[in-house]
Amino acid sequence: MLVFTGTRPEIIKLAPVIKKLVDEGVEFTYIHTGQHYDYEMSQVFIEELELPKPHYSFRLENYTPASQLGEVMIHIDKVVSSLKGRPKLTLVQGDTNSVLGAALASLRLGIKIGHVEAGLRSYDWRMPEEHNRRMVDHISDYLFAPTELSRRNLEDERVLGQIYVTGNTVIDALDTYFSRVLEVEGRVLEQVRFDEYVLITLHRAENVDDSKVLKSFVEILRKLPIPAVYPIHPRTKRRLLEYGLLNTVESLNHIQLLPPQGYFEFLALLKNCKLAMTDSGGVQEEVTHPKIRKYVLVLRSSTERPEAVQAGFARVVGLNPNVVLAELEKVISSSSEPPTTSPFGDGRASEKIVEIVKKELY
Ligand code: UD1
Ligand code: UDP
Repeated sequence: MLVFTGTRPEIIKLAPVIKKLVDEGVEFTYIHTGQHYDYEMSQVFIEELELPKPHYSFRLENYTPASQLGEVMIHIDKVVSSLKGRPKLTLVQGDTNSVLGAALASLRLGIKIGHVEAGLRSYDWRMPEEHNRRMVDHISDYLFAPTELSRRNLEDERVLGQIYVTGNTVIDALDTYFSRVLEVEGRVLEQVRFDEYVLITLHRAENVDDSKVLKSFVEILRKLPIPAVYPIHPRTKRRLLEYGLLNTVESLNHIQLLPPQGYFEFLALLKNCKLAMTDSGGVQEEVTHPKIRKYVLVLRSSTERPEAVQAGFARVVGLNPNVVLAELEKVISSSSEPPTTSPFGDGRASEKIVEIVKKELY
C-alpha cells in the first residue's frame, strides 16, 4: 500500500491513520510529495507527531499547478516501478494538488484509491481544491466521508466507489495529541503579548493572490477591535511583500505576527483565543472539538464544511471589512457559548479507515 502526504494538513490528518497502520503491523510505503517543503510546513509535523520517516520524500521544481501535478505523477511512476510487486491501494487525504497527482498516477498504474475526507463540496469553482476533490472522488474506490452530508454529496453525484461514513481524522488527531498541547501551552502563552486575542490564519489562493482581496484583509487587520495573533503562511507573506502590504501589517502594534507554528503550538493558541478568523479548512473543524470549542469567522464566501455553520460554531463572512468587523463585534459582545459536540465525528475515524483498508489488503 502507498500512503501519501504533500502539505501541512495532510500530514496532520493522516497522522492518526499512519500511527494505526504501524500499530496494526500493516506494511506501507510512505511518500511525501514535497509540495510543502519548508521545515515548519512539513518536517516539523512528521517529527512532532512521531511519524515514521517517509520512504520517499521529493522536492518539486516548479510551482505552477500543472507542473505540481505533473511532477508528483512522474515521481510516483518511478517509485512504483522500483517497488517489488504492484501496491494494491493508495491512500490520500483531502484536496490538494498532491492528492490529485497521486490519485491520477495510481489510477493509471492500476492501483485502487482510498480517499480520506471524501465528499466535501464548496460549489465554488474558483477553488483548485474544489476541482481536486471532485476529480479524486470520482476515481476513488474507497470514499471515507467524514459526515452524512458528505455521503449525500457523493451519492448525489453517483460516484463509482464504495462510501463509508467515518468521521474526520482531524478529531482523532486532536484526541491523540491533546496531552502534548497541554505540555506546550504555558510556554506558548508566555510569548503571546495579549490577554485576549483573535487567532487569524489566511492562505487560500482566491484570497491572497488577488491584490484587491488581500488589501481588504489588511484593512480588516488595521481596524480590528481586539488584538490578534497571526501565524503567517509563506504564500501570504510572499503576496503581502509583492503587493507592498507587508510593512503595513508589520507596523500594526495590535497584531502579533508569527511564523507558521508547530501543531501543538498552534492548537495551544487556538485553545486560548477569544475566537478564530480563518480561511483554513482544518481550523473550521478543530474549533468544534470539545476540548477547543471556539467560534470561527470564515473569511470566504463559501465553505465545504457547512456542518460547522449548522452546528453553530462558524459564520461565513467573506472579506468585506464592514461585514467582517460587524460580525466580529457580534461575537465579541455575545455572552453565548459554542456548542459542546463536534459534527465531525467521535475520534474513531482512523480506526474505521484502517479496518476497511485491512479488508482490502488481506
Ligand atoms: C496548499 C493547497 C491548499 C491547502 C494548503 C495547506 C493546493 C491547490 N493548495 O496551498 O489546498 O489548504 O496547501 O496549507 O494544493 N510555499 C513556501 N513553503 C512551503 C510551501 C509553499 O514558501 O513549504 C510557498 C511557495 O511560494 C508556493 C506557495 O507557497 O509557491 C504556494 O504553495 P502551494 O503548495 O502551491 O499552495 P498553498 O497555498 O500552500
Ligand atoms: N496549523 C499549524 N500551524 C499553523 C497553522 C495551522 O499547525 O501555523 C494546523 C492547524 O492546526 C490545522 C492545519 O494546520 O490542523 C490546517 O492547515 P492549513 O490551514 O494550512 O490548510 P487547510 O486545512 O486549509 O487545507
